[in-house]
Amino acid sequence: MSLKQKTLDLLKRREEALKGGGEQAIEKQIAMGKMTARDRILALLDKDSFHEYDLFVEHDTKDFDMDKKKFSGDGSIIGTGTVYGAPICIFAQDFTVAGGSLGFMHARKIVKIMDHALKMRVPLIGINDSGGARIQEGVNSLAGYGEIFWRNTLVSGVIPQISVILGPCAGGAVYSPALTDFVFVVDKISKMFITGPEVIKTVLGEEISMEDLGGARVHCEITGNAHFFSESEQECFDKIKKLISFIPWNNTQKARAFPPKPPKKEYKIDSIVPNDSKLPYDVRDVIRAIADDSDFFEVQELWAANAVIGFGRINGDTIGFVANQPIVMAGVLDVDSSDKIARFVRYCDAFNIPIITLVDIPGYLPGIDQEHAGVIRHGAKILYAFSEATVPQVTVILRKAYGGGYIAMNSIHLRADFVFAWPGAEIAVMGPEGAANIIFRKEIMEAEDPEKMRKLKVKEYKDKFANPYVAAAKGYIDSVIEPSETRKMIIHCIEVAKNKSANRPARKHGIPPF
Ligand code: HXC
Repeated sequence: MSLKQKTLDLLKRREEALKGGGEQAIEKQIAMGKMTARDRILALLDKDSFHEYDLFVEHDTKDFDMDKKKFSGDGSIIGTGTVYGAPICIFAQDFTVAGGSLGFMHARKIVKIMDHALKMRVPLIGINDSGGARIQEGVNSLAGYGEIFWRNTLVSGVIPQISVILGPCAGGAVYSPALTDFVFVVDKISKMFITGPEVIKTVLGEEISMEDLGGARVHCEITGNAHFFSESEQECFDKIKKLISFIPWNNTQKARAFPPKPPKKEYKIDSIVPNDSKLPYDVRDVIRAIADDSDFFEVQELWAANAVIGFGRINGDTIGFVANQPIVMAGVLDVDSSDKIARFVRYCDAFNIPIITLVDIPGYLPGIDQEHAGVIRHGAKILYAFSEATVPQVTVILRKAYGGGYIAMNSIHLRADFVFAWPGAEIAVMGPEGAANIIFRKEIMEAEDPEKMRKLKVKEYKDKFANPYVAAAKGYIDSVIEPSETRKMIIHCIEVAKNKSANRPARKHGIPPF
């Protein structure tokens, strides 16, 4: 063969390999409202930046007539590229090829790009569209998953791992994403489950649709398995790009700094929090009144909405915001919001992102449901995460800081670097009504007019504790500040803490209340 013929041969082979599962399967994929795996990669990455590897990989399975079947690239596409100029490693499963099922060689490709991502210390993005372990390959496909899970864990906290669910993902195809940092889903397209409707019907005799079992909304609103909800694949890719703009390439770096921008004038920080501590407000407006350009990129917006987490920038630097949300269940902490906050704090800490905590919390949600759901164990995760964190941390008490919530929401006792309170802050063991009913029970019961006495005692307790000055007198808060001073104060504190060093005793690892 001449060199020219060899080149033509390459082009022909390439053309063949790029066909995926063939025209019919691709048509089916598109009819389902889904993009093809390769188009997804191209839509996500910077133009002309994608470089594909292992295009000619084939499976070598013989069982179940598999030797008669040729699977293009064995159903996975791997490569490198850039997002806003940031280098990344990426894989996408091709559902048109054997349902994106994970055979041994398919897995080998994914493992190869994961190893690259670790070696190069760049983010890894996985686009999952797979029926899980390839049934014909038996334990070999399970071995493939095992290798992937092991690497997910190895690189956790070293490089960012982002998962996108863009199809009916079953079994291992959802356990690997669950081990990664952020999971993106798209309405009507994404499905995640361990055992699918067929298995449920066989074992339990129940009929359930894939959507009801594990659709995008289910995982964004009920289970908390997914972090970002989108209406379309393109919207999803735009969100991934935005996330990448907020995070560093790896745990030895800081996120890229942007030119500082003041918050938008429409967010007037002095008038967001009502004086009456029973009135709700949207804490995200406070974040927007502090953040550069009032830009707040919320994480897990639809799940455990009584807590708010997400990224923004202050003076150009990425910040992780954590807050109680008074418009949802008065901002109490419960099982799910504890998990949500704790994991986000650990993420920020692992990737050198300073944490700002905004506190307005009446306490933990009381009741048998929460106690039996393990609120002790889950609530403890927040204590653990904040206590463990060593990135710069600033806490601002906006209004209520009662009981365990005061401690848990990154108090000075858990080693926040700076703690401030607004003048309307109320820092106490519990709300004045509850406190008065307990400690003055006898006086109230024995009074001629118990209701009058109760009101008097509530006022007495409120005057004593429902303010920031008792805590300020002990040095538990560093300063009582006006709301309008908050952004300036935070900018200064983050600057001062830039070279913070916080040593901890050497250990293999702690034992968090997982
Ligand atoms: C081999 C598979 C496959 C699999 C799908 N296909 N899943 N081939 N192994 N796991 C093939 C189908 O045979 C079909 O091939 C093509 O992919 C498209 O699948 P359809 O069923 O036609 O598509 P759809 O109706 O959209 O249903 C998608 C699905 C369903 C919901 C994913 O295929 C399904 O339930 N698959 C099995 C899911 C599963 O139980 N996986 C194993 C999980 S256990 P043809 O040739 O007809 O086009 C696991 C172990 C790891 O993953 C556990 C870790 C802890």
